[in-house]
Amino acid sequence: MQITKLAVIGAGTMGASIVMALISNGLKVVLKDTDNIVLENGLKNIDKFLDKKIAKGLSPIKAQAMKNLVTAVTDYKEFADVDIVIEAVSESINIKQKVFQELDEWCNLDTLLLTNTSSLSITQIASFTRRSDKVCGLHFFNPAHIMKLVEIIPGLDTSSETIQSVTQLANLINKVSVKVEECPSFLVNRLLTRYMNEALWCLSDRIYTVEEIDKAAVEIAMPIGPLALRDMNGCDIGLSVASYNFKEYGQRFAYPDLLVKMVDNNLLGKKTDKGFYLYTKDSPKPLGVNENVYTLINQKPQEKLPSSNIPLSIRLMLPMINEAFLVIQEKICKLESIDLALKTGLGMKLGPLELANNIGLTTCLNYLEELANFYGERFRPAYYLRKLVYANKTKVI
Ligand SMILES: NC(=O)c1ccc[n+]([C@@H]2O[C@H](COP(=O)([O-])OP(=O)(O)OC[C@H]3O[C@@H](n4cnc5c(N)ncnc54)[C@H](O)[C@@H]3O)[C@@H](O)[C@H]2O)c1
Repeated sequence: MQITKLAVIGAGTMGASIVMALISNGLKVVLKDTDNIVLENGLKNIDKFLDKKIAKGLSPIKAQAMKNLVTAVTDYKEFADVDIVIEAVSESINIKQKVFQELDEWCNLDTLLLTNTSSLSITQIASFTRRSDKVCGLHFFNPAHIMKLVEIIPGLDTSSETIQSVTQLANLINKVSVKVEECPSFLVNRLLTRYMNEALWCLSDRIYTVEEIDKAAVEIAMPIGPLALRDMNGCDIGLSVASYNFKEYGQRFAYPDLLVKMVDNNLLGKKTDKGFYLYTKDSPKPLGVNENVYTLINQKPQEKLPSSNIPLSIRLMLPMINEAFLVIQEKICKLESIDLALKTGLGMKLGPLELANNIGLTTCLNYLEELANFYGERFRPAYYLRKLVYANKTKVI
């Protein structure tokens, strides 16, 4: 398909950085939001991104040329001849419904309508239009102009031509794309949630300290500890993601009360200067652990069972590894996409399947069984892992 003119709807955190990803690759964009004040803020953020590029050597003339590719609007008049719309409005099904109905009215019948939703159903969003074959998920990671990964999520009726065109767009803007079948939280956030929940369990069961957990995660594969990451993204956002996944997937995605207590006590992380760590606005690094977190945990320290012989770093990763096996079982994506997506999207040094290979498939199964006996559902081994072990396989891929 000829991709010459795009539109981004929503000029917030994601919208502005998606525009930046498009104009950095020479694409014309119409940017729409509800009113001029929000739009101005979005444009200011694009200016800041461009200033950073200038500081790194981009000529101001080229930066201005990139800025000129953006047309900011508050109505749909410019939408009639756009090839692709990327929707990045607030994460509410009612708002998305209104926006997709309007887009369906205003855009040419051939225009593809993509959504950057993190959690809502692509199929449901597509049902708000009369062109469900031309609606698809294109999930960017924050900030969209820097993070290389995009997940392409077709809905039930999305046509193969649409998927092909979305892949073409991803290539055009130099992204690594993985195709993911629609499931709650898609691929990366689904696996990430399992690992983030486990970090909270390790803390709220009083088995490990904040520092021990974050150190162990970094040692094995992660670019940042899970509790530091929770503070960075905000415990309120973390709670809404955790509760959504629990609602959709059930007991396997159970999370401890501690997360609710963190939100109730306004310990949201960096944005309130207090979370699992303490912060000040002047310092980019945390001042230290917030000892008040331990007072929110009622439980007495647990005996170090059953994980006495299971290293903390492995215990933290096992739920993510097990979820990766469930994803394979459900045929959510190609096997080789899993590590690629997790490494590109989260900056992991090793993907969950590489970790499983390194730990040993039989060891992973034994550890999961031991933990499942003690903690129940959240460690129930994926049947696919059992099959690999029965077949004496030593590697997943
Ligand atoms: N923030 C992230 O890290 C992240 C990452 C990936 C995906 N997402 C998804 O991207 C989408 C946007 O998230 P965000 O963080 O940029 O939100 P945001 O709140 O920063 O921005 C949303 C923007 O949508 C605008 N908006 C609301 N209703 C509108 C309408 N009817 N027409 C036009 N504009 C409208 C708002 O004015 C606001 O500027 C959500 O679906 C979210 O789940 C967010």
